[in-house]
Amino acid sequence: MRSAELDEFVEKVSERTDIYSVVSQYVTLSQRSGRYWGCCPFHNEKTASFSVSPDKGLFYCFGCGAGGNVFKFLSLIENISYFEAVKLQAQRLGIDLPKRNSSPEQERRRREEKTLLKINELAQDFYHECLIKTARGEVGRKYLAARGITAETIETFRLGLAPEEWDNLLRKLTRQGYTAQQLESVGLIVKRRTLSGYYDRFRERVMIPIADVFGHVVGFGGRVLTSENEETPKYLNTPETVLFNKRNLLFGLDKSNRAISAAGAAVVVEGYMDAISLFSAGIKNVVATLGTAFTPEHVKLILRYARKIIFCYDSDEAGQRATIRALPIVQQAGAEVFVIKIPDGKDPDEFVRKHGKEAFEELIKNAATLIDYRMNYVLANTEHSTTQGKLRALQDILPVIVNVDNPVTSEEYLKKIAAELVLDERRVTDEYHKLLKQKPLNEPKKDSAIKKPKTYSEEESRIQMASEEILRMLWHEADILDYVLTVLPKEIFTPYHREIITWLEKCAEQERRPNKISAAEELSEEANLELSRILMNGSDEFGKKEVALFEESLATLRQIVLMKKFYKLKAQVESPKDEMTYNETVKELIKIKVKVDNLKGNP
Ligand code: GTP
Ligand code: MN
Repeated sequence: MRSAELDEFVEKVSERTDIYSVVSQYVTLSQRSGRYWGCCPFHNEKTASFSVSPDKGLFYCFGCGAGGNVFKFLSLIENISYFEAVKLQAQRLGIDLPKRNSSPEQERRRREEKTLLKINELAQDFYHECLIKTARGEVGRKYLAARGITAETIETFRLGLAPEEWDNLLRKLTRQGYTAQQLESVGLIVKRRTLSGYYDRFRERVMIPIADVFGHVVGFGGRVLTSENEETPKYLNTPETVLFNKRNLLFGLDKSNRAISAAGAAVVVEGYMDAISLFSAGIKNVVATLGTAFTPEHVKLILRYARKIIFCYDSDEAGQRATIRALPIVQQAGAEVFVIKIPDGKDPDEFVRKHGKEAFEELIKNAATLIDYRMNYVLANTEHSTTQGKLRALQDILPVIVNVDNPVTSEEYLKKIAAELVLDERRVTDEYHKLLKQKPLNEPKKDSAIKKPKTYSEEESRIQMASEEILRMLWHEADILDYVLTVLPKEIFTPYHREIITWLEKCAEQERRPNKISAAEELSEEANLELSRILMNGSDEFGKKEVALFEESLATLRQIVLMKKFYKLKAQVESPKDEMTYNETVKELIKIKVKVDNLKGNP
């Protein structure tokens, strides 16, 4: 249930928000005919088809069909929910959120979380000081220097060293008043198995703090200094805690998000050291997963900043398999995927240290598209000299092509596949179409706000255009709704238009004026989008010209309704059931014909 207070809050934020100043923070806009234009941030384009109307408080892209009010824009571009967008804008304007009536329990939990974050920060400082200031830190400094990591990088990432003693951190932090339970709950200490008490989890390791997007330290990765002991794992990570969840975290994102926005792309690597190394070499739009698979949550995080994701995993087999597994997750989320395969050296860290920033930028520039990469992978890893093998390889590759929206591109790929596999092109196309037919069943729905404009038949497009005029008029003059619905059956409108009309009826019944906010909240996503588009398209003035256009549109729709009836009756006349109905139907037909002629002569 939404409270009046909440409505008031949304209203207030909306009133004080200027859509132009919000959008122009993300998109370069220039003015033309009372509106602002720019290149759409939601699809790739070179000519500006994205428009913003400050008067109407709406945006709409004529290229991809994304549109809506300012909160819709923020929610799309920041990849957050509609209400989160309202909150974000409120924050930016300095408007206080309506006070949440949080229970004492919620209040306690919030305070506890703050304490736990503080503990992690103190631990980070402790490890960092130990590395750079103490004699014990010497081993760590030597290790990092040998790996080409500069003092500046150590500062940027607040790298540290966990000393070899068993309880240094434990003693330090309990002295400062934190409890062992608290330290244990963030994973910094571990209960002794036999004796009572605890010991430090991280010892004799280079410490890499891991932060959330806001820069709060939520966990650590600790790397061994020597590879002498095969028994010790190379990395020890913070276990899953209330703060630390690997599915939702990307190492480095707190530092790289601006660069990711600016570049329009994120480079995803496997290892902490790869991310650190690339970042300090000047490739700043980089993040690393935390030794786990790439998840849909990770995609969402990145999509807040950029639509393009470039995988750059190790070139060994494990890295390549991990890449293949990550691809569908990213493609389904609507990101653009590219893959870099490091030509020599196992990982990005080694490569960039050996060849430098420019060479890596060259790799980015030449990154393979998802499909090329997938195709090459399948070709390299399947036996495809026999017919059986060819068909198996085909089944492996085709699902990726099915997800390609552009028919020209998919056709090119089908040709390429046929050539590579030495298969008949027709065969490849047939298999492709088979798969395409199954697609809607096993595909998750793509973001409905970003889709292509439809193509219409001639009659459909006449209905569409006339309905738009009528809806525009209805938006401004709710009083004529009754009139419209007495002369036209609702069925003539498309489903989304019908939804809008039904909603306008409801507003009228409840005696409230429809507005952009209630539209965004009460209409389906698609209908709201359609409404935004319609309102963006027309003029705001309602003079003689607009009224005439409205009357004409009404006549057009009336005519279409009558003609539909006419053809239906005509079919009945051509195969009559009996004399009686025949005569009745002909009479009816003549009546309709007169009405249609009247409409034509008198638009
Ligand atoms: P360096 O060997 O120091 O260059 O490490 P790296 O960052 O290049 O890591 P690597 O490519 O070997 O492994 C990728 C990631 O997997 C690491 O960054 C860790 O997150 C994780 N990882 C690697 N080894 C271990 C391990 O022994 N235990 C755990 N839990 N994670 C590991
Ligand atoms: Mn490495």
